[in-house]
Formats: sequence, C-alpha cells, structure tokens
Amino acid sequence: MPDVLLAIEARGLVRRFGAFTAVDGVDLAVPAGSFYGFLGPNGAGKSTTIKCLTGLLKPSAGELRLLGLDPLVHPVEIRRQVGVVPEGLALLERLSAGETLDFVGQVHGLGTAERARRRDELLALMDLHETGDALVADFSHGMRKKLALAAALLPGPKLLFLDEPFEGVDAVAARQFKELLTAYVRRGHTIFLTSHVLEIVERLCDRIAVIDRGRIVAEGRLDALRADSGGGRSLEQVFVDLVGGARPEATLDWL
Ligand SMILES: Nc1ncnc2c1ncn2[C@@H]1O[C@H](COP(=O)(O)OP(=O)(O)O)[C@@H](O)[C@H]1O
Ligand SMILES: [Mg+2]
Repeated sequence: MPDVLLAIEARGLVRRFGAFTAVDGVDLAVPAGSFYGFLGPNGAGKSTTIKCLTGLLKPSAGELRLLGLDPLVHPVEIRRQVGVVPEGLALLERLSAGETLDFVGQVHGLGTAERARRRDELLALMDLHETGDALVADFSHGMRKKLALAAALLPGPKLLFLDEPFEGVDAVAARQFKELLTAYVRRGHTIFLTSHVLEIVERLCDRIAVIDRGRIVAEGRLDALRADSGGGRSLEQVFVDLVGGARPEATLDWL
C-alpha cells in the first residue's frame, strides 16, 4: 500500500432515488490522518453519501478513490483496509458478541490466536464481555452500536467510516468511543464521521464538510471555518447560518 495523501477522494458524487436527488455532485478530499466530520441537518444526504463511499449503495454518478485505490478495481484490498459502521449497523442477529467478532476475524483471515486476542480486548474495551451467549437480537441499541464499532475495528483498518456513531450510546460508552477514536487517529489513521451533533464534531474533528440538501456548503479546517465567519463563534452559529435558512420562529401560540 503506497502512502497516500488523500484517504478519500470523491468527484461529482451523485445518488438519485427515482426523481429525487439525495446527493447532488459532492466533491470530497479527505487528507490521510484526519478526523473528518461530515455535518448536516436531518435528511441532508450524509448517510447516502457514506453508503456510496463505502460501496453499500451504487452511486448514480461520480468518481471515487479510497486510500488511493479505485473501489471498482481493488474491491478486496479496500475491504481489508477500510472499516465501516453504517446507519443500519448490519449485524448478524443470531450470533453472540464474541461469535460476531470471531466471524469478522475469520473473514479477514486472522489466525486463531490473534483473532481471540483482538476479540477479547475489544469485548473488554466495549464492556461487552459479560454478554456471554446472549444473541445480538436481544441487544439494546447502544450495545449493538458498540459491537458494530468493535467489528469494524477488529481487522485493524486504516480508514474508518462511522455514521452517527454516538447516537443512542450512553455517556460512559460515548466517552470510551471518543478516547478510542482519538487514539486511532493519533496513530495516523483516518476517520470519516457523520453527525448532526455539533458538539461532538467540534470536540473531535480537525476538518469538516457541511452538507445541505445533497450539496457541500462549507468545507475546511474547523478553526478556519470559524475564523472565516467572523471568528470566535461557536460551530453552532456557523452551522445555523449555513443551513438554517429562513425557518419560521420556533413559537407556537397555542402552546
Ligand atoms: N432508499 C431511499 N429511497 C428514497 N429516498 C431516500 C432513500 N434513502 C434516503 N433517501 C432520502 O434521501 C435524503 C437524504 O437521506 P440521508 O442520506 O439518510 O440523510 P441524512 O443521513 O443526512 O439524515 C432524504 O430526503 C431521504 O428521505
Ligand atoms: Mg443519516
């Protein structure tokens, strides 16, 4: 694997659902080693974009490179190097947490000892080691989220896609996630994370893109975006200015 400057490159990414265009010509250049936040209001096209980037949805148009590789030409290499926690989590309901991680390790061709080591470390780290034989089908939403992140990390990817990773997890787990992900990026790997929660992005990410109605409306280093818009402003103010538009005043006279 050559050292690449850009972990993700997308040019003119489009995804239509019938007559509706959910992703409308998105360009992305995500530097390797960055903690990249993909922000936008509900329905802006974040999940659709991440699905297109990770091969879960076929783009209607556009060009894509992950870690310098074309997914159409190097699908196997990309599957080895890229981890994904998609919107729907995609877990096998009839497996336990341990079996899930074993399965992922097998698919990625890890030896028995290494597989067990990574499985046990991840189960302990995610506080899932006491779930024993319980099936994923009976897991809470937060437990599923933890397991999905563990499964994505187990093969040791260089690039990690996370769709709303903190949504539905408790404060303790969220803190664990943040530490884990920050350490992951410090090792030189790349994270592309979607969120509609500004504080999370503000705390973790060094670079962001803001998407609204399928189009990128701002992109750059977080500090530069804040400075551009007058300086000393919270990301929330910047965000609302960008995508808030002319929304009606939030009062209901009958309430
Ligand atoms: N499978 C689909 N069929 C039709 N419309 C879809 C489908 N998936 C997403 N959309 C629409 O595309 C838009 C963007 O959705 P999504 O990418 O999930 O937004 P976000 O993740 O930013 O909240 C929304 O209007 C959504 O209703
Ligand atoms: Mg979404």
